[in-house]
Amino acid sequence: METILITGGCGYIGSHTALHFLKYTDKKIIIIDNLSSGFLENFNYLDKKYPNRLILEKIDLSDLVALEALFKKQKFDALLHFAAALSVEESMHMPLWYYQNNTINTTNIFKLCLKYGVEKFIFSSTAAVYGEPKNLDNGITEDTNLMPINPYGASKMMSERILIDGLMDIQNKIGLKLGILRYFNVAGASMDNQNLTKNDGLGQRSKNATHLIKVALECATKKREKMAIFGTNYPTKDGTCIRDYIHIDDLASAHLCVYDYLDSIENREFEIFNVGYGCGHSVKEVIENIKLITKKDFCVELKPPRLGDPAKLIGNVEKIFKKTKWKPKFNDLETIIKSAYEWECYLS
Ligand SMILES: NC(=O)c1ccc[n+]([C@@H]2O[C@H](COP(=O)([O-])OP(=O)(O)OC[C@H]3O[C@@H](n4cnc5c(N)ncnc54)[C@H](O)[C@@H]3O)[C@@H](O)[C@H]2O)c1
Repeated sequence: METILITGGCGYIGSHTALHFLKYTDKKIIIIDNLSSGFLENFNYLDKKYPNRLILEKIDLSDLVALEALFKKQKFDALLHFAAALSVEESMHMPLWYYQNNTINTTNIFKLCLKYGVEKFIFSSTAAVYGEPKNLDNGITEDTNLMPINPYGASKMMSERILIDGLMDIQNKIGLKLGILRYFNVAGASMDNQNLTKNDGLGQRSKNATHLIKVALECATKKREKMAIFGTNYPTKDGTCIRDYIHIDDLASAHLCVYDYLDSIENREFEIFNVGYGCGHSVKEVIENIKLITKKDFCVELKPPRLGDPAKLIGNVEKIFKKTKWKPKFNDLETIIKSAYEWECYLS
């Protein structure tokens, strides 16, 4: 039976992806997480649903001694590397922390993967590596220039570069295959959630949410008094930023498709994939839809644009469709909002 290592598996995307792998494969999973932004509840939910299939190692990725001890003890067939800090705004104020937690820790764990013969490495990157690409009629492709405009995006761009150069460096003597997934905006909750009861479901928990849909739903469920739209004069149809929102379950399934793709390729060492739906919604449009779907009104303030926020990010996702068997099932803003709302009500 294959064993995979998932860093950040107690977080939002890592836990949903772990659920997908538990459900559709027989792999054993070891999660590394320091619970800085992750939740033990996510691990407990997975463990209860799939007993004896996963283990949590509460390790900080900067603890090289503990990490190496784990690699010595256990052979891993693959690493899915989600652990990172990910607030654009925070990264503008704490850039060095982002380079430390995202770039340096990625470098260190990648070196361990090479040393201990891990065969596949799937890296969580982000559309923030593109910065603000201009005049792209067909959306942002994987070949679009990388020009991040905030330290978060830069920390991920540098990580990508280090992973790719690292493979070149060893001329792939180990045979490691690398998949880099550049996610667009992720939202929603597990479509497996049914009759949510205490500790029985998966969705986005947050200690300090910054994602638009999550924040707006926290307002709709009265966890927050108000929210803000940052910037209303962007060169977009209604002046607010446009993003490509993808349902969390479709993102989770993309990881397994890329995993299988990496298994199937013989003459490629790495592949980069955008993961989104290739269509965009503005901030105003998302908030209006949330008010409509939840039938709740809440206060929305108009504020100046935030540093480092690009006007429009829409992915061109032809490559992942062409090369892998990925078939998204929930490509619809209403489904995303409804699943997230149900989850948010449960958290109330
Ligand atoms: N959420 C999005 O919309 C989005 C978009 C693009 C890319 N991403 C990327 O996806 C990945 C996962 O994001 P998420 O939304 O699940 O975030 P999250 O904060 O829910 O999960 C990150 C997890 O990593 C853990 N972690 C962080 N630093 C760690 C460290 N030093 N040692 C051990 N564990 C550590 C946290 O405790 C948490 O469980 C990140 O790499 C992020 O950059 C997310």
